[in-house]
Amino acid sequence: MDKIDEQIGDDTDAKEFYTDAAKYWDKVPATVDGMLGGFGFISQTDIEGSQNFLKSLFIKLKNPPENDYALDCGSGIGRITKNLLVKNFKHVDLVEQNSKFLDTAKDFLSSCSSKIGQYYPQGLQDFCPEPKKYDVIWCQWVLGHLNDDDLVEFFKKCIIGLKENGILIVKENVTSSNKVEIDTQDSSVTRAYDDLKNIFKRADLACLKEQKQIHMPRGLYPIFMFALRSRLTTDKITTNETVI
Ligand SMILES: C[S@@+](CC[C@H](N)C(=O)[O-])C[C@H]1O[C@@H](n2cnc3c(N)ncnc32)[C@H](O)[C@@H]1O
Repeated sequence: MDKIDEQIGDDTDAKEFYTDAAKYWDKVPATVDGMLGGFGFISQTDIEGSQNFLKSLFIKLKNPPENDYALDCGSGIGRITKNLLVKNFKHVDLVEQNSKFLDTAKDFLSSCSSKIGQYYPQGLQDFCPEPKKYDVIWCQWVLGHLNDDDLVEFFKKCIIGLKENGILIVKENVTSSNKVEIDTQDSSVTRAYDDLKNIFKRADLACLKEQKQIHMPRGLYPIFMFALRSRLTTDKITTNETVI
């Protein structure tokens, strides 16, 4: 049993971990501020950091992803899709467990609706992407809602969902205490940097680039972006590709 599962406890508790999170998000307003826990004002800085990170991958990787199809995981109302993904990809799918947020996303994304493919109303713990569909799978501020074992399984399914040069992006808070911290209010965990790295390893993911988000207000958790690929793919197609 891994660290978080130990703390979540048995299967019943694990189920509660997911249902409690769903109940929490049901009460959250379907707005950018709601998505960011009252920190809506950081959205632009967050998006700028993400855009720079993504751009560096397109420019510097020997085998960069194409600009065809992205998946926004735990998309909420589509904040990242609207401000980042549709500007970099021809098509975007969204997966989000709260259907109220997906209904709002349809309005929120009306100006770019021709670029939106599928809306998947599902929890990431149950979601299985179509094989080889995506150039980029973007996971941000949602993975703390999955326990370690489900997260490893989810990452393995993401690898299957990526095209050959595809990249999985993880952008998440990490603790400064170097320990997992549990939030009983929204039923999530914030992992330590080393815990995330350990989960990548368990999922056979290699990290090609990582970067800390800058210019965030003091008092927030440090935020890290990771660009990941299957170790097997990395060995096969990117021989000599260095970590950038
Ligand atoms: C902090 S918000 C972030 C939304 C979006 N990623 C953003 O940055 O604007 C977390 C989102 O994750 C969703 N969520 C929570 N648990 C989930 C799960 N198990 N599977 C998929 N989505 C989940 C919530 O409904 C909410 O929309």
